[in-house]
Amino acid sequence: MLLALGVLVLGLAGAMEIQVPEEPVVALYGQDATLHCSFSPEANFSLKDLSLIWQLTDTKRLVHSFSDGRDQLTDQGGGYTNRTALFYDQLSQGNVSLLLRRVEIADEGSFTCFVRVRDYNSAAVTLQVAAPYSKPNLNLEPNKDLKPGDPAVVTCQSSYGYPEASILWQDSHGANITENVTTSQIANEEGLFDVYSVLHVLVEPSSTYSCLVRNPLLQQETHASVTITGQHLAFPAVALWVTVGLSICIVVLLAVLAYICQKKIRQSCEEEENAGTEEQDTEGEEQKTALQPLKSTEDKADNEQEID
Ligand SMILES: *[C@@H]1O[C@H](CO)[C@@H](O)[C@H](O)[C@H]1NC(C)=O
Ligand SMILES: *[C@@H]1O[C@H](CO)[C@@H](O)[C@H](O)[C@H]1NC(C)=O
Ligand SMILES: *[C@@H]1O[C@H](CO)[C@@H](O)[C@H](O)[C@H]1NC(C)=O
Ligand SMILES: *[C@@H]1O[C@H](CO)[C@@H](O)[C@H](O)[C@H]1NC(C)=O
Ligand SMILES: *[C@@H]1O[C@H](CO)[C@@H](O)[C@H](O)[C@H]1NC(C)=O
Repeated sequence: MLLALGVLVLGLAGAMEIQVPEEPVVALYGQDATLHCSFSPEANFSLKDLSLIWQLTDTKRLVHSFSDGRDQLTDQGGGYTNRTALFYDQLSQGNVSLLLRRVEIADEGSFTCFVRVRDYNSAAVTLQVAAPYSKPNLNLEPNKDLKPGDPAVVTCQSSYGYPEASILWQDSHGANITENVTTSQIANEEGLFDVYSVLHVLVEPSSTYSCLVRNPLLQQETHASVTITGQHLAFPAVALWVTVGLSICIVVLLAVLAYICQKKIRQSCEEEENAGTEEQDTEGEEQKTALQPLKSTEDKADNEQEID
């Protein structure tokens, strides 16, 4: 009732009101989009009184027009051939929405809906195009013989998205490690973005690197992760055998040393017993620690020579 009253008032005032969405219309790339536009026709409205023009707001390029009761497409802009239509069964109710088929990136922008019956008016609809990003491909370089502390490069690649993605890298704990990242977003022929993000890391044992690619317009998020596990960090066979070999050498060496030490200590004890009284008088060196048995014997040999 109120609406009808409002329309009546406007009708009496001789103005024409056009309804369009205030918010931008988000359309998926490659799919069909409807740009809504409508007016409230008077009771005696006849289709042949309607002139409708859909055009690009900036360039005034013709997208679709309808007058004298039929489509008028001779001046239609090149890119729109076979891609536009009206909802013909709803025109008589004042529904002059435009159907735009197979939306392209280039379609993004403002469209003006211009309507004339006796009065005229126009309003603009904004179209935003969006395309979800593909699941990222992660690549680790080098991808074998990695040891903790080695520098490595993780690359994350995702395609066919629009508009530009926001990239977030996370470590095993979900912490933001986007700091040392280089990201490039390159548009392909259709205007869709190819995202390429490079993370430089120093390898830690058992760490996970996740790349999250987010389409801000669609609130879409896709991610992939790579885990550097024991497999990547495993000792290469050669290194393993070298380690084992070295360990055996060291053990043998220690055993030999221990044997020699023991022998020397025994020797020095015998010597001490032999030269006991002499030394006590001349030297104050008896307090030498047991930790330096070899040195103490050498010293003693020197001392004995001096004494001689
Ligand atoms: C339609 O009705 C309006 C009044 O509501 C009148 O002014 C106008 O002349 C009519 N138009 C036609 C084509 O009959
Ligand atoms: C549009 O459709 C017609 C009829 O199907 C076809 O002959 C014409 O080649 C199409 N034009 C374009 C630009 O696709
Ligand atoms: C106009 O027609 C389209 C397509 O059928 C529909 O989605 C839309 O809601 C209609 N608008 C109005 C105002 O009736
Ligand atoms: C980024 O690089 C700097 C210098 O190479 C380093 O000190 C810092 O820890 C790095 N940040 C992250 C999150 O890896
Ligand atoms: C992650 O870190 C980057 C660079 O420091 C910053 O620009 C971004 O806003 C951060 N993102 C989140 C979700 O914290």
